[in-house]
Amino acid sequence: MCGIIGYAGPRQAAPILLEGLKRMEYRGYDSSGICVGTADGAGSTSYSLALVKKIGKIQALRQVVPKDFPGSWGIGHTRWATHGAVTDRNAHPLLDNSGRIACVHNGIIENYRALREMLEGEGVVFQSETDSEVIPNLVAKYYEGDLESAVKAALANLQGTYGIAVIHAAEPGRIVGARNGSPLVIGIGDGEMFLASDVTAMISHTKQVVYLNDGELVVVDSSGFRTTDREDRHVDKKIEKVSWELGAIEKGDYPCYMEKEIFEQPESIERALGGRIDFETASAKLAGLNLDRRRLGEISRVEVIAAGTSWHAGLVGVGLLERMARIPASAELASELRYRNPVVQRDSLYFAVSQSGETADTLYALREMQRKGGHVLGICNVVGSTIARESEGGIYVHSGPEIAVASTKAFTSQLAAFYLFSLLMSRMRDLSISEGSRFARALAGVPEQVKKVLAGRDEIQRIAKKYSHSRDFLFLGRGLMYPIALEGALKLKEISYIHAEGYAAGEIKHGPIALVTPEVPSLFLVPDDELREKTLSNMKEIKARGGPVIAVGVEGDDEVAATADDFIATPRMDPRFYPFTMVVPLQLFAYFCALDLGRDVDQPRNLAKSVTVE
Ligand code: F6R
Repeated sequence: MCGIIGYAGPRQAAPILLEGLKRMEYRGYDSSGICVGTADGAGSTSYSLALVKKIGKIQALRQVVPKDFPGSWGIGHTRWATHGAVTDRNAHPLLDNSGRIACVHNGIIENYRALREMLEGEGVVFQSETDSEVIPNLVAKYYEGDLESAVKAALANLQGTYGIAVIHAAEPGRIVGARNGSPLVIGIGDGEMFLASDVTAMISHTKQVVYLNDGELVVVDSSGFRTTDREDRHVDKKIEKVSWELGAIEKGDYPCYMEKEIFEQPESIERALGGRIDFETASAKLAGLNLDRRRLGEISRVEVIAAGTSWHAGLVGVGLLERMARIPASAELASELRYRNPVVQRDSLYFAVSQSGETADTLYALREMQRKGGHVLGICNVVGSTIARESEGGIYVHSGPEIAVASTKAFTSQLAAFYLFSLLMSRMRDLSISEGSRFARALAGVPEQVKKVLAGRDEIQRIAKKYSHSRDFLFLGRGLMYPIALEGALKLKEISYIHAEGYAAGEIKHGPIALVTPEVPSLFLVPDDELREKTLSNMKEIKARGGPVIAVGVEGDDEVAATADDFIATPRMDPRFYPFTMVVPLQLFAYFCALDLGRDVDQPRNLAKSVTVE
């Protein structure tokens, strides 16, 4: 949430900052700004700060930044508002009262009121309603000719979370960054340096990166960087290489990222499975778990901690684990768990599941579980992300960068991780080698089956057009399809703004059926599993009350097709694998509804990817 960027080098900073912000726009897109240091005249050795801010997307900022905006060092920000309305004034960068210090901030300063009152008492006049504006003014208060020391002194006053980048007109070419709870990455270029919330902001310039940890501070200039901790001790950092290419974050021939990411799923699932199925032993190879067989054998319970779509993947995962490995398992909402004083058992295994690896709720829940002695593994997409680094091991899902705010390909890759883990655990328990082989072959075949579902896009688009003007929707499923119903409803509401509820199909008679009218369609997930008859009865109950029904079912299931008003066929397969194939029509359905309604599919209102605030 919010993206920050800094550049120090020989080139003009503004175009680099704007490009970086554009690539991070998915982190927040209600306003943005850049601030660069610029010489006070040709050949002058004194500098001032030049600032441009604008509400709206990065395109709106581009239009007001002068073409020849001088300055070879600077900072930028794309905002997802927390404190203060979406206005030009509240956009970052924020200046101190003298206009000589500028700061961009991602996070929330919890004690900002007290700090603001204290600074106002000392004569500071605040220009914005943000919590963040206390930072440049605190830096100014402590500044005695050294920006690094002043930032350190300012940080000692802050409670809350931050990733920040600060510049001072009197220290040309230097940027001071610090992190506590919000990500910050250093990019090492050739005679130039970058600082950003996310590697995507600088991938077109460098692949050499250094991830900062909480409590660390960095000073960069064009010649390099220096990192210290809160006690001012030097911290040695490892330089890492980003493994993906620029093409992975470009749209290519697709009209938007969400469509690209939906259609990439055969390959992204393949990557998640890549080399991890052991056909010889009919098991899975998950070396990243860092757990030997003895320790795995001792696990008596699995608990998933996650938010949103990742939580839905966790719900499928625990259903599968329970069914296959006969291990008690549950999936908890991180935002609830972190404040619940949870009971942590030593023989339990905890999975923090997160596409971004930066979700604040999941990260803080992970830390709380670790504090209580829990063994936490990560299932993450973003390599080097905070959750991935703070877990004791885990599974990278390798979907590649997911840019659209609504998560699609990361979800199916997270499923792949859970299916691999379930295979591993069940083979260590009761699953026979022949049963394991059957499961392994079906898992390896998932990408081909997903391809077949994607081939049905035109029919799904036709059905979406028919229903896109509905105001309310029900998504219903049983067993492993219940979390898929939740996911389908979430996709629809977040990108089309149609109100949708995901429900366990068996629960509708306990209340939600009162909503059913000819104007409220229900989308049913009806695989040919042991619950098919029950779900079919629920469909008939809706039909009997005049509710339109769309069914996502299995090809050749004439009875379900005849009961529904509209039928989306998916390939027949081992029922345990339907979560992969039946979620895809729901992603496409939401996408085509949103398209039909003219919504901004990649950047829906009020949302942002990577939710780094509470
Ligand atoms: C929905 C969506 C969100 C995220 C949630 C957790 O499409 O993207 O619900 O799933 O914010 O994010 P991660 O997985 O990054 O922890």
